[in-house]
Amino acid sequence: MLCFKFFLCLLLLASAAGVHSLDPTLNDDVLGLIVFKAGLSDPHSKLVSWNEDDPTPCNWVGIQCSPVTSRVTHLLLDGFSLSGHIGHGLLRLPFLRILSLSRNNFTGEINPDLPRLLPGLRVVDLTDNHLSGEIPDGFFQQCGSLRFVSFARNDLTGRIPASLTACSTLSTLDFSFNRLSGELPTGLWSLTGIKSLDLSDNSLEGEIPEGISSLPDLRTVSFRKNSFSGQLPPDIGSCPAVKEVDFSENSLSGPLPETLRKLKSCVSLSLAGNSFTGQVPHWIGELTSLESLDLSANNISGIVPTSIGRLSQLKHLNLSMNQLLGDLAESISSCRNLFSLDVSRNQLASSNLSSWLFNLAALHNLEALNLSSNALSGEIPPSIGALASLLVLDLSSNMLNGTIPSEIGAAVSLVKLNLNNNLLTGNIPSDINNCSSLTSLILSKNKLTGPIPAAIGDLTSLEFIDLSFNNFTGTLPKELTNLSHLLSFNISHNNLQGELPVGVFFNSIPPSSVAHNPSLCGSVVKRSCPSNHLKPIVLNPDSASSDSSPESSSSHHYHRKVVLSISALIAIGAAAFITLSVIAITLLNIHVRSSISRTAAAAAVAFSGGGEDFSCYSSGSDSNYGKLVMFSGKADSLAGCHDLLNKDFEIGRGGFGVAYKTMLQDGRSVVIKKLAVSSLVKSQHEFEREVKKLGKVKHRNLVAMEGYYWTPSLQLLIHECVSGGSLYKNLHDEASRCLPWRQRFNVILGMARGIALLHSMDVVHYNLKSSNVLIDEGGEAKVGDFGLARLLPTLDRCILSGKVQSALGYVAPEFACRTVKITEKCDVYGFGILVLEVVTGKRPVEYMEDDVVVLSDVVRRELEDGRLEECVDVRLRAEFPADEAIPVVKLGLICASQVPSNRPDMEEVVKILELIQSPADGQELME
Ligand SMILES: *[C@@H]1O[C@H](CO)[C@@H](O)[C@H](O)[C@H]1NC(C)=O
Ligand SMILES: *[C@@H]1O[C@H](CO)[C@@H](O)[C@H](O)[C@H]1NC(C)=O
Ligand SMILES: *[C@@H]1O[C@H](CO)[C@@H](O)[C@H](O)[C@H]1NC(C)=O
Ligand SMILES: *[C@@H]1O[C@H](CO)[C@@H](O)[C@H](O)[C@H]1NC(C)=O
Ligand SMILES: *[C@@H]1O[C@H](CO)[C@@H](O)[C@H](O)[C@H]1NC(C)=O
Ligand SMILES: *[C@@H]1O[C@H](CO)[C@@H](O)[C@H](O)[C@H]1NC(C)=O
Repeated sequence: MLCFKFFLCLLLLASAAGVHSLDPTLNDDVLGLIVFKAGLSDPHSKLVSWNEDDPTPCNWVGIQCSPVTSRVTHLLLDGFSLSGHIGHGLLRLPFLRILSLSRNNFTGEINPDLPRLLPGLRVVDLTDNHLSGEIPDGFFQQCGSLRFVSFARNDLTGRIPASLTACSTLSTLDFSFNRLSGELPTGLWSLTGIKSLDLSDNSLEGEIPEGISSLPDLRTVSFRKNSFSGQLPPDIGSCPAVKEVDFSENSLSGPLPETLRKLKSCVSLSLAGNSFTGQVPHWIGELTSLESLDLSANNISGIVPTSIGRLSQLKHLNLSMNQLLGDLAESISSCRNLFSLDVSRNQLASSNLSSWLFNLAALHNLEALNLSSNALSGEIPPSIGALASLLVLDLSSNMLNGTIPSEIGAAVSLVKLNLNNNLLTGNIPSDINNCSSLTSLILSKNKLTGPIPAAIGDLTSLEFIDLSFNNFTGTLPKELTNLSHLLSFNISHNNLQGELPVGVFFNSIPPSSVAHNPSLCGSVVKRSCPSNHLKPIVLNPDSASSDSSPESSSSHHYHRKVVLSISALIAIGAAAFITLSVIAITLLNIHVRSSISRTAAAAAVAFSGGGEDFSCYSSGSDSNYGKLVMFSGKADSLAGCHDLLNKDFEIGRGGFGVAYKTMLQDGRSVVIKKLAVSSLVKSQHEFEREVKKLGKVKHRNLVAMEGYYWTPSLQLLIHECVSGGSLYKNLHDEASRCLPWRQRFNVILGMARGIALLHSMDVVHYNLKSSNVLIDEGGEAKVGDFGLARLLPTLDRCILSGKVQSALGYVAPEFACRTVKITEKCDVYGFGILVLEVVTGKRPVEYMEDDVVVLSDVVRRELEDGRLEECVDVRLRAEFPADEAIPVVKLGLICASQVPSNRPDMEEVVKILELIQSPADGQELME
């Protein structure tokens, strides 16, 4: 080993000193490779098999040897993630033929001694490394029989070495993607064996000399993205074998040389991004092998000759950014294989887009059509639907007028549609919802009108929507919240009104995307919505409904008829709204029974009496006004439904929304809950069905639902008002008096009965907590806020559960979002916690100084220690009946059991509680 290291040093010294021969008993190849490896970093240990003690390297990774001489001929280390310099060790491999080190991280200059290997080498591939510096000028002097050289994708600078011309056997030369500069070496055209020449993406300059036709085997030539100037080499057409020619993105000028017409086998011709002038030559049709022709971004003018139609193999045609005139539709329609056609940014004119689309409809492969920024006029014809394979259609910046035909819905493959900057009028056809692949819908800068159709909400792939600079009206459809991939949504400069849809995307939309819509409101546009300005309507008692007292919560309550009318309107809001509301009241007092259509904007309130519903909803599609339904009877009048909301009377906030208090005409107060999760609410139909079902749930221990109000963007639930405050307040509020035991027991029993009834009607409460249980004046518990989860689509319950979990401590352990399975047993758990809370007077989770105390754990521990009495509320210590309290606590613990199947049904709970209750002292202890 030591001996080996010694030789290694010797070798390095020797080679540095130019000494070429060493002890012939040593295998030069092993040493050379080990020395080469020693200079590298091999992060993925790709070269572990390179073992210096091996007699021969022929089995090492990346090495191939000659079967005859057993000397190394191939070094193939492509993509090995090696870094470091390409070291001297390689010079010890005199039989190396193929050196392939592409896709590594070699750095530094190209080893100036590397040319010593060249005479034997056939292939040098250093593609895609980080080599820098200049290629030494004499590098290729001893080119030998080198056939393939690639230094592409490095960081090389300086000129192309003049010695290159010595490589007469070279067939592939690739210096692309470096920073080479200067002019081409003279004699480049003496590389007569060359088939592929790629100098693209450098900084080469000067003229391309004539003589390229001396390369008889040239197949592909790319000088793309340099700074070459002057004309195309005029003899380029005389390269008989050439298939791909790319001179794009240079500064070439002049007309296209006529010799190009001889490129009969040329498949791809790109001259884009130069300064070529003149016309598209008439002989273009002779290049019949062309599959791709790119003449874009030049200064080519005139009319495209019809001979272009002879290019029957053509797949990609790009003539954009020139000064072409006329109408090339008819000739192009013969290019039957056309895949993409870009003639944007010319001066093409046609007063008949119909003829374009008619002709293009024959091109069954056409996927991308860009006619933007031309002078096309006329209407978009219904035949647009015939382009069923089209993925991208760009007609922007023309002079198209008329409407968007509903047949656009037949272009079912469309991914991108751009009609920006035309003169289009009319509505967005709702058939557009058939274009279900759309990711980009740009209709900006037209004269489009009408509402934004809810159908757009069906296009769930949409990422970019631009409807700006039109005259769209109405409110934004709630369905927009279905667009979960949206990245950009611009509706600025329209006449839209109302609130933006709810959701993360719309909450963080840049203000510029919604600006200049005078009637849009909400926090993003920094304009509060009208409903926030108004005082509530105060509804006074009506003699006809005297049988309705707050206590009558029996089931026939539901059919009670109440005639509502407005007696007072307290409005502190903007004067304008007061006026409008007065108009509304006036209208209402006329006892309008049938729909009034199109009354004054804000007062568009109509009635559809009949059945149990009292409705006030708007005419037509104006979704700013909604539908009010009172379960309890009919009403003659009610003002603008928005007046139901008033921040000043806010009485609470919860996971589902904000609650307000207002008064009905019969003097009964009602609580109005604004659902904070509007965007998640189901369709109107489903919402109404569910709410009506909840409205049928009537029980003395449940807070009755009196009605609801629906608009796409706002949903209100109207509840009975219970005066005694929440159970939470009664238990935990310092200011409230201590509930005596008898009342606590009643509350527990009442809650149990209420929840049992819910379960019997297949309603899961889902959000039990002491702040959702109300106590009425008689001390009776009324469970509220039940079943709201039913109003949301199942999926969204996950989103919601984040909020619900704020009811910490009540949530059953199995209730994890992923496996959301809301069952009655979750309620039983919550009820169990409520029982413990009522008996102990402690919150389900208490935060102490440096501890979190979970009530059920504490109580369970006390039970195990036989000290259950001690957990009863200290304020009750003097007077509670242990024979009731202890079993109740135990029942609570069973209900709060970790395993759902161990929890009893609420029916059973009620029965157990009734048994526990000692009938004798039922009334005595009552306050
Ligand atoms: C390449 O090498 C440089 C330094 O030698 C190192 O910083 C870099 O991370 C390497 N890159 C890769 C892709 O290995
Ligand atoms: C056509 O050429 C222009 C300019 O060279 C380029 O921007 C555009 O992307 C090309 N079109 C297609 C479809 O490739
Ligand atoms: C394009 O050609 C026209 C004449 O055909 C000339 O006036 C104009 O300057 C040229 N533009 C460029 C950018 O070369
Ligand atoms: C437009 O072109 C279509 C199809 O080529 C033709 O049927 C129609 O008559 C043309 N309309 C006008 C106004 O020229
Ligand atoms: C569209 O414009 C053309 C003129 O380019 C005109 O003849 C036609 O009446 C216009 N159509 C509509 C619907 O405005
Ligand atoms: C927008 O449409 C309304 C009618 O819907 C009209 O009164 C108004 O003038 C239009 N505005 C513009 C800029 O066209």
